[in-house]
Amino acid sequence: MRQGMDIAAAAAEIKAGRLVAFPTETVYGLGADATSGVGVARVYEAKARPQFNPLITHVASADEAFNLGDFSQDAKALAHRFWPGPLTIVVPRAASCPVAMLASAGLSSIALRVPAHEVALELIRASGVPLVAPSANPSGRISPTRAEHVRGYFPQLTVLDGGACAVGVESTVVSFLDGTARLLRPGGLSREALGIALGESNSEILHAPGGLLSHYAPNAAVRLNATHVEPGEALLAFGPHVPAHSGPMRNLSPSGDLAEAAACLFENLHALDAEKVARIAVMPIPLHGLGEAIHDRLTRAAAPR
Ligand code: TXA
Ligand code: MG
Repeated sequence: MRQGMDIAAAAAEIKAGRLVAFPTETVYGLGADATSGVGVARVYEAKARPQFNPLITHVASADEAFNLGDFSQDAKALAHRFWPGPLTIVVPRAASCPVAMLASAGLSSIALRVPAHEVALELIRASGVPLVAPSANPSGRISPTRAEHVRGYFPQLTVLDGGACAVGVESTVVSFLDGTARLLRPGGLSREALGIALGESNSEILHAPGGLLSHYAPNAAVRLNATHVEPGEALLAFGPHVPAHSGPMRNLSPSGDLAEAAACLFENLHALDAEKVARIAVMPIPLHGLGEAIHDRLTRAAAPR
């Protein structure tokens, strides 16, 4: 009952052109009315994005997405197979698309997704408009997977609390712009699960526009592929065979389960960062399945800033 009232109030905020943070299965989103240029501009303002990166437009059903973008047969097949779910599909904007041009940063394409979270779907339906929603963190910081993370970043913001995000990393972004499917960002739906040839190797990922290399960064420095821990470091472990260490430590998955690791990746980065260590040593993560998205986010966290 309480949640229903929260959603009605949050939808009123959205309709007034203001921002609301809401849970999705991947990470918490910073939502605004996608058809409002002012609403979209407020998202960039709140995140302090260095440039207008294009945003994902969230809708409640595949049919709504098909009205906003021109989907090929292949793109429609992916939508039907994986929505609601952690997949974003980039297609040409439909001629009648009412989404603000600022949301696609001037591109003639649009990124669309149906999130698999009841609170997100209810908010979209109650608002009666599609919602743009980047992750609800200031630009360059770790993405939030709990309402508390969002409140820490934006104390004034209306936040719908849906508990911890089940997937824990952002959606996989695939474009269908010239007849071929291209993987622009690895994410919560693995390349294997997509089941389509999206390039020959992991290095073939084409980076989505506006993607900064240094991103998802904790305050601490990050050292990858660590097989031992140096003095002053915290350890972000993975799997059963953990090097000896007496300082702060978190294990992404003691059993070596990549889905479990993805779900708690950002949460553990937030937690180790709160220990105020100088550096976080991260054990090697396998590159298959969701390991590709985990590796992408950790590489960005480790990039020079
Ligand atoms: O899981 C997610 O996708 C989360 C939740 C809240 O839904 N949202 C999210 O949004 O990660 P954001 O703004 O952090 O990432 C949007 C991604 C970027 O990589 C951007 O470059 C890409 O989508 N993108 C958006 N529009 C695009 C377009 N027209 N063409 C190519 N890439 C696009
Ligand atoms: Mg983000």
